[in-house]
Amino acid sequence: MKYLVVLAIFALAFAAEEKADDERPKTYRRLIPADVLRDFPGMCFASTRCATVEPGNSWDLAPFCGKSSCVISEDEPPRLLELVEDCGPLPIANPKCKLDTEKTNKTAPFPGCCPIFTCEAGVKLEYPELPTPPPEDEKKEDKKEA
Ligand SMILES: *[C@@H]1O[C@H](CO)[C@@H](O)[C@H](O)[C@H]1NC(C)=O
Repeated sequence: MKYLVVLAIFALAFAAEEKADDERPKTYRRLIPADVLRDFPGMCFASTRCATVEPGNSWDLAPFCGKSSCVISEDEPPRLLELVEDCGPLPIANPKCKLDTEKTNKTAPFPGCCPIFTCEAGVKLEYPELPTPPPEDEKKEDKKEA
């Protein structure tokens, strides 16, 4: 009997030791129309740097955590776009997860500046749903009715 109790305590201690793996932040990308200065057509204006950037080049968004690239769209007529990459939406608040202030380096270049969370064993962070196009199933149902 005593032996069993000792085993149980060991198992518990082991579980506590095995901290949840760090959730590596996923990065998130979106395309927006580029800022363009009247005197510098054909170049993106990087407002965080107060500088113009040629298509094909990137810049860090410090003091925000992100990176932008100046790109030319492939449609006609070609437009100047800014490809913004950031850490994505913050996870849904969970009292069993904490921002890991030791591992998170806010001053590191993107994506190193993304927040890193540490959770209690067995706890997984959930991220808010991003708007996505309707699933395939719904389209099939529509066809059936028609
Ligand atoms: C955070 O990142 C910056 C830039 O890469 C680096 O100079 C600094 O040493 C880092 N700090 C820590 C605590 O890792």
